[in-house]
Amino acid sequence: MKKCFSVFLSLIFIFSLTACGNAANPGENGSEPTKNNSLEIINMDIPENFVLIKGGSFQMGSPESEAWRSADETQHTVTVSDFYMSRYELTQKEYEEITGNNPSNFSGENLPVENVSWMDAINYCNLRSEKEGLTPTYTIDGQNVTWDKSADGYRLPTEAEWECACRAGTSTPFYMENSPSAEEANYYGHYPYQIEENYFSQGNLEVRPGEYRQTTVDVESFSANPYGLYNMHGNVSEWTWDYYGEYSTEEQTDPSGPASGTLRVYRGGGWNDFAKNMRSAYRATLDQNKCSFNLGIRLVRNAAPGTGSVSGTDSQIAGSEGNGKILIAYFSWGGNTEGIAEEIQRQTGADLFEITMAEPYSTDYNTVLDEAQRDQNIQARPELSSHVENMEQYDKVLIGYPNWWASIPMPVASFLEEYDFSGKTIIPFCSHGGGRFGQSLTAIAKLAPEAAMGEALSVHYSGGSGLPEDVTEWLNNNNIETN
Ligand SMILES: Cc1cc2nc3c(=O)[nH]c(=O)nc-3n(C[C@H](O)[C@H](O)[C@H](O)COP(=O)(O)O)c2cc1C
Repeated sequence: MKKCFSVFLSLIFIFSLTACGNAANPGENGSEPTKNNSLEIINMDIPENFVLIKGGSFQMGSPESEAWRSADETQHTVTVSDFYMSRYELTQKEYEEITGNNPSNFSGENLPVENVSWMDAINYCNLRSEKEGLTPTYTIDGQNVTWDKSADGYRLPTEAEWECACRAGTSTPFYMENSPSAEEANYYGHYPYQIEENYFSQGNLEVRPGEYRQTTVDVESFSANPYGLYNMHGNVSEWTWDYYGEYSTEEQTDPSGPASGTLRVYRGGGWNDFAKNMRSAYRATLDQNKCSFNLGIRLVRNAAPGTGSVSGTDSQIAGSEGNGKILIAYFSWGGNTEGIAEEIQRQTGADLFEITMAEPYSTDYNTVLDEAQRDQNIQARPELSSHVENMEQYDKVLIGYPNWWASIPMPVASFLEEYDFSGKTIIPFCSHGGGRFGQSLTAIAKLAPEAAMGEALSVHYSGGSGLPEDVTEWLNNNNIETN
């Protein structure tokens, strides 16, 4: 699709342009929020369905008072330059027109493309740029990608651009005044913001639990944010350029993340996420070659040529080859994960290890729901009563856990922090009650960034009669021999 608006239409956009900084306080921190480069902007073609986001300064990250924030959301001042961002997530039609294929889990021309890796997204940007006579933004050398900032082609937003665009001048957890209901965004609607601590007494909730659609929806669904962007919270998460890393606490201008890393950041939350994981500041991560039915693409383009280039060196550890020694380590509260672990043990003969707590959670369901959310909220690291004798001998560690509040139980975090997983491959398996992995893969990746990650398995409760077959297929996909 190559349709561009004329200079005339560009002028219309100029009147509806938007600025990253809070409109009430435009010159914050002494920086001029909008450089006077509007002539340059007017002379550039604005791609159809893109919005001009005027740069400026904003507070990136979340305040310490924000409920369900993570420690990696350190608030700091960031200034971004002007850029164009697509109003919509990239559709399956747009993806297929350029690449000739559609890897999406759900099917529909106007649904967002998902199940695309970061590398797929980068390739798409270049292919579409070439097709439209633009300069491709990226140079791809194996797993290493360099971004030419002067190129006028399609590209992914930086994390900072994404957050600036999502916030639309707000500093609240979501760009809307109240947290989103399921009528306002496509997410795991049974779990609105702060449901965790209000599960049994929902009177304090800003919005009530609503529909869980279990699918993506058309990219024009719901209302746009104040900048004219649709589905910045929910539907699918969106890849950004940046490698995952700690934020600087210093003031930054046009930050583009660490120069190397193992994980790329994606933002915004998707149809399968709890509201807490759609917050403007929430940072999800995944290997650049992996994909998810919850994760798609939103394109941006420069509004004025940038200078220089940014190189990204992928430092992903290659997983250990062949059938090295395997450990199956699991945490289970009700026995489902334990059953899966035992099935894996039957098929592989690998060592089996149960992660147990010095002070176990209550055996009462309602009480453990409360204890689990409390521990997750404070990011507790409960003391463990079992320890792996000689972790060095294992090449692959299969880690099993139940999905708890869309993430891992905190004893699993204690386990991941106890050992050095450098050079090992972690292969997660997750028992769940409908939420699949939730954000548990992000949680594991952040806790063991030095490990390679294999293909994960999600099992509905105990997995039923299909479990042995599902386990065999999963082990084979991970190049693990079965008996
Ligand atoms: C504290 C707690 C929180 C849970 N949170 C979720 C959730 O967010 N999403 C989900 O799909 N299932 C959730 N479940 C259901 C469990 O993931 C599911 O029952 C799983 O099979 C339990 O495994 P286990 O028997 O090994 O403990 C939760 C269960 C408990 C006890």
